[in-house]
Amino acid sequence: MKIDQISFFKVLPHLKELAENPIPFFTDSLSTREGIVKIHLPSSKAIITDRPEFAQQVLQKNNKNYTKTKLQVENLGRFLGKGLLTSEGEYWLQQRRLIQPNFHRKKLADLTHIMLNEVNTYVDHLSSSLENGVKEVDMSREMMRLTFSVVSRSLFGEEMSMSELDRVGHIIEVIQKYVTTTTRLPYTKPWYRINGKYNKVLRLMEEADGILFDGIEDRKRSGERYDDLLDMLMYTRYEDTGAGMTDQQIRDEALILFVAGHETSANALTWLFYLLAQHPDVEQKILDELDTVVQGDEISFSHLPQLTYLMQSIQEGMRLYPPAWVVDRLAIGDDKLGDYAVKAGDMLFLFIYGTHHNAKYWEDPEAFRPERFDKSKSSERHRYAYFPFGGGPRLCIGNNFALMEMQLVIARLLQQFKFDLLADQQIELQPLVTLHARNGIKMRVRSRS
Ligand code: HEM
Repeated sequence: MKIDQISFFKVLPHLKELAENPIPFFTDSLSTREGIVKIHLPSSKAIITDRPEFAQQVLQKNNKNYTKTKLQVENLGRFLGKGLLTSEGEYWLQQRRLIQPNFHRKKLADLTHIMLNEVNTYVDHLSSSLENGVKEVDMSREMMRLTFSVVSRSLFGEEMSMSELDRVGHIIEVIQKYVTTTTRLPYTKPWYRINGKYNKVLRLMEEADGILFDGIEDRKRSGERYDDLLDMLMYTRYEDTGAGMTDQQIRDEALILFVAGHETSANALTWLFYLLAQHPDVEQKILDELDTVVQGDEISFSHLPQLTYLMQSIQEGMRLYPPAWVVDRLAIGDDKLGDYAVKAGDMLFLFIYGTHHNAKYWEDPEAFRPERFDKSKSSERHRYAYFPFGGGPRLCIGNNFALMEMQLVIARLLQQFKFDLLADQQIELQPLVTLHARNGIKMRVRSRS
């Protein structure tokens, strides 16, 4: 069966809307069809689907027929190098096998003290900046800052100064913006080469490289071992040869973890605080659970598995606001999605946001109900009705890291502060590479004590 198409002519009147926020257009286009449609976008023709079984076919069952798209592998890879997110084929598999064991829950336990330390530093900082026990903040900015420091310290421990890390963070941001703009609007590329922007980005990357290689070199020279991800990257060994990674490989993988590991968690947390501020009943249940489980002690790794309602709230937050709102792939050969033919060269957008909001898979989909994620209910839905971390062999390697981090952040911040939404603000989706709030989310923070 042929996939229904929306021609560029019909897309034309929606170009502005598509550039700002394609989610409503994608949702409308799918709702009047069978959950699959081909849209002629300005950048490319893309098959868009919100059907869980199609996502499973692409990401898992027939994953060998699909590769990542140019955005990640070529465009981002040119600047960031060949890390897990930007590599393909045999090389990717070899690296994934090498790095994966270090991201298992048990291994991550070693990292919780670094995470907690960063969260507690942030709590102290926020407490001391309150005036008369109150402060207005933009949660997007706050969470970006917090998750950045968590992932930086988890990677590099104390090896680098916060100003060096901030500099690397800034450079990554500039590169990400450059890559997204030149991919979405390819005609900007020659212009950026003429006006010097391309060379400026290359120079920034060299500067970041200098900082990263110095960090790796210093750590090597010291010969000391630490419980952080840099240590893991330096001392992990390939099974067949017993050799370790080169400095270049360590740098590439570290940089990718940096890039992949902070904006996603920051957005998930921002949206969750937004939801909790509107659902005091859920917030109270989380606080009650914390009281019962932690019992006045300091929260630690061993408490996390018992904080089940908190975990359900995080999962439900990522259902409504999935940080990776779409996952893209390119078909190498022909395939079938149900009765629909996919041709070699077709681009596919697995519309995670659309799946998570579809009434076919979720009762009353717009309602925030953490109870949906009660263990007893998971068998009632398709495995890919919920896939905020993707799926198949390229499932997010940092999923456990992110879930632990989010549990710790929400627990510590809710214990200490009350967050209320400021009135008169327009909360809008801004789907970039990850799902942002366009104007941030402004909140009033009050100390609970
Ligand atoms: C809420 C937080 C997060 C979300 C929603 C998320 C989501 C995703 C998704 C959907 C993918 C698959 C992309 C694709 O198939 O094209 C992915 C891949 C990846 N993520 Fe995450 N992620 C999160 C946090 C993290 C963290 C904290 C780290 C690292 C510390 C991380 C590292 C990675 C890496 C390295 C990949 C590429 C894996 C591979 O291709 O082998 N992510 N993530």
